[in-house]
Amino acid sequence: MLQTVTLLKPPAPAPRMRPLGPIGLLRVLATNPLEAWTEAHFEEPIVAGGLPFGRAVVVSDPAAIRRVLLDNPRNYEKDWMQRRILSAGLADGLLSAEGHQWRVQRRALAPLFSRRSVMNFSGAVVAEAEALVERLHRKAGETVDVAAEVTLLTLAVLERTIFSDGVGADREEVRLAMQRYFEVASRIDPFDILGLPAAIPRLRRLNVWSTLRFFEKTIDRLIETRRRRLAASPDDVPQDLLTLLLHATDPQTGARLSEAEVRANVLTFIAAGHETTANCLTWSLYLLSQSREWRERLCAEAERELDRGDPASLADRLVETRAVIDESNRLYPPISAISRVARGDDELSGHAVRRGTMVVIAPYVLHRHRALWTQADAFSPERFLPGARETIERFAYLPFGAGPRVCIGSAFALQEACVTLAMLARDFDFALAPGHVVRPVQKMTLRADGGMRMILTRRD
Ligand code: HEM
Repeated sequence: MLQTVTLLKPPAPAPRMRPLGPIGLLRVLATNPLEAWTEAHFEEPIVAGGLPFGRAVVVSDPAAIRRVLLDNPRNYEKDWMQRRILSAGLADGLLSAEGHQWRVQRRALAPLFSRRSVMNFSGAVVAEAEALVERLHRKAGETVDVAAEVTLLTLAVLERTIFSDGVGADREEVRLAMQRYFEVASRIDPFDILGLPAAIPRLRRLNVWSTLRFFEKTIDRLIETRRRRLAASPDDVPQDLLTLLLHATDPQTGARLSEAEVRANVLTFIAAGHETTANCLTWSLYLLSQSREWRERLCAEAERELDRGDPASLADRLVETRAVIDESNRLYPPISAISRVARGDDELSGHAVRRGTMVVIAPYVLHRHRALWTQADAFSPERFLPGARETIERFAYLPFGAGPRVCIGSAFALQEACVTLAMLARDFDFALAPGHVVRPVQKMTLRADGGMRMILTRRD
């Protein structure tokens, strides 16, 4: 049994007693959708209604979720809102593709993220985590925004694993453009929520149009250079994600990805992989800052494991670190809602779902659902330690989704998060900066409003 007295309850908006009206809801959806959830969402298996337009159901019954994501996925397409938001540059990538195009891509791209492939990237992760630790040593004792620091790390890891031979002479400029690009891409524009046609320009994107074009052109140039090198001397090119992408073939048809698909997937990997993993690390650091016990446990594990054995298997040996990360992904799932639209009529938990209904599966709600979790709002990584984690229902815990569209980068992200968190826990003790108020907000991902200001002190 989990103890009740000592458990930390990290900040979360209090569920509303009653649902908001249409105008209030629209405002909350544009500012912080986490504030829209009601008591009923955290208690009932399925809640109907709740969108200012159209029909919607929020599903938190594991059996019904299994039906949507695994048993009957062809009836549930990604919805227009997600695709509209993702459309810039990513339209032909794995995250937004549907139907035949998605199937061919998923088969072709699966080997890029296999366990073996991910283990081969461990060197890049360790090198970038060491660079972060070094940077933070120089800032020890000062207030730092760890959210910004770990975002630099996740972008650098992707840069190294996709373009392992570098992005060219103007590296800093490319980095800045890349950061700007994804900052803009990850803002939900109110026009998107309202469903206004894509032809109506989004002001925020217009403002930074030249930066966006510069970044896209850089990606095109890097792909083109690699293509030429592969044609001229195939044995001399690095075996990074870009080479794997250019070689990727559908095992069933032998089809290769088109130029547009290669570019869209480079952008997709960066878009889907950097902010999510950075948020996972930020929330893990925050939760650790609140628990001396877990800081000490992780430090001891890191001292035991970091410098021994094969670096490729390191993430598997960091069992307690992984439990903290899993618990962080439970309380603050970086993707806090997954949505689909029913293509045909269906039944979920005895509830008729008509064609066209938006089906929302919200990991944020599911992971705090009172029928599914003990002490649902409390930080308790013990639930993910061996012996306990096997008792967790598969469809009650979905930080990476499930079924055929499950996150392709989950092993990549978990390896990166485990190794980095362990290295930080070994070298530093962390405390929240005085006066910093932690407030979770949902933008494209679930992040900490205004960053996460902390003071890191060196451990001797
Ligand atoms: C902690 C970090 C991450 C979290 C929490 C996360 C979460 C998710 C979730 C929930 C989905 C399913 C969305 C849906 O069903 O609508 C997804 C899909 C996806 N993720 Fe991740 N992700 C993470 C890291 C990554 C990384 C590192 C990459 C790549 C480098 C990546 C690439 C993708 C792609 C391409 C898809 C679409 C897969 C498909 O539709 O076939 N993700 N992710």
